[in-house]
Amino acid sequence: MTTTLLLLASAIAPVLATLARSPTPPMGWNSYNAYSCSPHEDIVKLNAQGLIDLGLKDLGYDIVTTDCGWPTSERDSQQRMQWNATLFPSGGKALGDFIHSLGLKFGLYSGAGYYQCGSTNLTASLGYEDEDAEAFAEWGGDTLKYDNCYATSRTTMVDSTSTEAQSPARFEKMAASLNATDRDMQYFICQWGIGQDVGDWASKTGNTWRMSNDIYNAWRSIWRITNEVFPYYRWTQPGAFPDMDMLIIGLDALSEEEERFHFGMWAINKSPLIIGGILNGSFQNASLATLSNQEVISIDQDALGKQAQLMRRYTEEEWDIWLGELSDSRRVLGIANWRNQSRRVEVDLSSLNISSANARDVWALEDLGAVSGSQDVCLVGHELKLWVLSNITTKEAYTSSRYYAAANGTLAGTASITTCAAGECAPVAKKVGDIGPGATVTISSVSSRSNGKNLVGVDFINYDYAFETAWDWGSNTRNMTIAVNGGTPKRWAFPISGGDWYETGRLMIDIDGFQAGDENQVVFRSMDASFAPDLVGFDMFE
Ligand code: GAL
Repeated sequence: MTTTLLLLASAIAPVLATLARSPTPPMGWNSYNAYSCSPHEDIVKLNAQGLIDLGLKDLGYDIVTTDCGWPTSERDSQQRMQWNATLFPSGGKALGDFIHSLGLKFGLYSGAGYYQCGSTNLTASLGYEDEDAEAFAEWGGDTLKYDNCYATSRTTMVDSTSTEAQSPARFEKMAASLNATDRDMQYFICQWGIGQDVGDWASKTGNTWRMSNDIYNAWRSIWRITNEVFPYYRWTQPGAFPDMDMLIIGLDALSEEEERFHFGMWAINKSPLIIGGILNGSFQNASLATLSNQEVISIDQDALGKQAQLMRRYTEEEWDIWLGELSDSRRVLGIANWRNQSRRVEVDLSSLNISSANARDVWALEDLGAVSGSQDVCLVGHELKLWVLSNITTKEAYTSSRYYAAANGTLAGTASITTCAAGECAPVAKKVGDIGPGATVTISSVSSRSNGKNLVGVDFINYDYAFETAWDWGSNTRNMTIAVNGGTPKRWAFPISGGDWYETGRLMIDIDGFQAGDENQVVFRSMDASFAPDLVGFDMFE
């Protein structure tokens, strides 16, 4: 009886969903970083061929996307988008056939607003989602990148604070239209991470979602985007990946070391790996070697699909420790040198709950054998050292912790308490905000078992994401100093914590200056003329 009912239910189920999700982050090439919004047929073909000739297709780079600039400003008599016949004389179907003939996937591009980004009048899909999805399917499209310009009018290209641009509705509409076609297409949301709770809805709607404003052709973009991707580990999983934007490798923006850092940071965070350089004979060998490092690619493409997490940050010393889970009980350890100088750092594996492991340095292609305890690690300037750890034995380094809520502290200056809804501002549903110039939060009677350093998990909220400032120095961080027992205040850079001003993030930091006993005083303060992140509280680990 039950079986019959189930069969009946599936027989009358609506059209099968055809929105495809890739189990691992998409890889390929996109025209935008090298050609801006001026693509044409020959360059798309040249780069598709380049993926083959440079051996990149065999490594998994198989999507070829023509970004902005491909259509005309008018729809045809059936209301369909048209390829610009001067730029693409063979048309979309033929371009798709060519790309497929190379064993590659055909990537399409449109937008959720009136016009395409980077144009003043080229057609986008608002109001024509069904027609466009149908056309994409007929041309043989395999993926759609869906952008977010001209959301409110035909005159303002980027309106990132508008309800229309921030709302999931238009992106969900196109997902439904793609689903209604008879072709499997992967959907790449390019909403820029604006509005609220983007990870929540976008991970349900698309295979990938852009979580930041565009990458800019300079090193500082790497710090900005890394600080914004941090909270998305909550949503990242097979079929749902945070898109840190197209790679700037091979575009003369970064040193060789920086290109490796960029590639490695995208890989441990499970970003799509979409090449933005020109894949002709003059592509730099070192850049090609970076893009071709199979061990780094396999970190990105790992079957678990888990994003790495920031485990420690040493802001004044300018380095981070990242750790991510991989399949087969392995982990990837990333040691990021944000300073452009060679240096030596100490990484205490036991403080990361690892008592022993076998390590492999994937950039050096070198097995390091068994590692345990404190490791002296040499880093050159802007190096991201990547170790894959296997055969791991673990031991909890901290047996207990004690929580201090910021709202129970003494506030001075502009600092004020906000009471949050249940479940918000976790774990105490209260936070101290408005920690502006000169404001402080002082917590007294803090217990410490020993003198000196202590591991502290600082619960903070920062949703001051860099959008307008993305081309400049916007970093997605807010600074706060922490001083213990009247000692020198030390600066810490807090990344974006979650999907709004009520979602807590935790920064794990080593703070010095404690005295054994129950009389420690910890003072949190904003830096210079800027606001600190909101403060929820902190855990003292023992
Ligand atoms: C941006 C998008 C970029 C690129 C550009 C085209 O909105 O984030 O990746 O597609 O539009 O102008």
